Amino acid sequence: MIKPLRKAVLPVAGLGTRFLPATKAMAKEMLPVVDKPLIQYAVEEARAAGIEQFCMVTGRGKTALVEHFDIAYELEVTLKERGKHDVLRSLQSTQLPPGAIAAVRQQEPMGLGHAIWCARAFIGDDPFVILLPDDLVLSDVPCTKQLADAYYETGGCVVAVTEVPREHTNRYGILDVAYDDGKLVEVAGLVEKPKPEVAPSNLSIIGRYVLMPQVLDFLSRMERGAGNEVQLTDAMAKLIGLVPFHGLRYEGRRFDCGDKVGFLEAQLAFALKRPDLAPAVRQFLRHYVSEAAETVA
Ligand code: G1P
Repeated sequence: MIKPLRKAVLPVAGLGTRFLPATKAMAKEMLPVVDKPLIQYAVEEARAAGIEQFCMVTGRGKTALVEHFDIAYELEVTLKERGKHDVLRSLQSTQLPPGAIAAVRQQEPMGLGHAIWCARAFIGDDPFVILLPDDLVLSDVPCTKQLADAYYETGGCVVAVTEVPREHTNRYGILDVAYDDGKLVEVAGLVEKPKPEVAPSNLSIIGRYVLMPQVLDFLSRMERGAGNEVQLTDAMAKLIGLVPFHGLRYEGRRFDCGDKVGFLEAQLAFALKRPDLAPAVRQFLRHYVSEAAETVA
């Protein structure tokens, strides 16, 4: 029987060093793309896939991430009094049913695998999704929904994958492919951040996963992998053969918002999708493009 997906784990304990000084006193997942923080994109995407329960794996200085989903009474009353109904509506998706969000602490940065293991009591014996809020996906069908749909067909683990330039394989979890139908890929192996010359393919995992709870058995061994961290990829690799394991070439564009250029690109791509902003953005982009062309000339 394929169990329904109801739980999401959001690892958000990272220090955000790549965005200092912005992230000195603020969680990197609170950085906005246009006017919405990364964490809210992740929660909305998961809810669109039927997820009802969330567990944030947090660390020091990250309380704003949980508070973002509280009811802000004073703010809402004031907005109502002032007739700001549009703004009020924009807050709607930050309101989850009572008890839908939990937080556990990862006291030490021991890797993504360790972060997921910190949520073991929340996961229990259920399948679950993981969303890394740094990875933002612009798509018609939300990326997690695409994964969930694939999961309800295949069962087992499903990870979102995309091709990357071979010289970038050392930044990602990389698939060893058993069978590839162009959309769904049967996984024969997984390697965390391999050097281009030894990478089994250039199909990389992005920060969206549907996983089986058995991954916790392997995570609990606390074996260190790449970067001397407890790697999720290594624990997932051990599930191959025990449960069905697929990669899904999702439809959409992924932005690495943990990187400055990726973050800037996401701002433009998401702003251009907004009818209230697109005309003005297009206009200033034309200006900067012609300025850049003159600089080159
Ligand atoms: C993590 C995972 C990696 C995955 C990547 C996606 O790496 O370990 O397998 O490909 O996320 O963004 P990180 O970006 O935390 O170094």
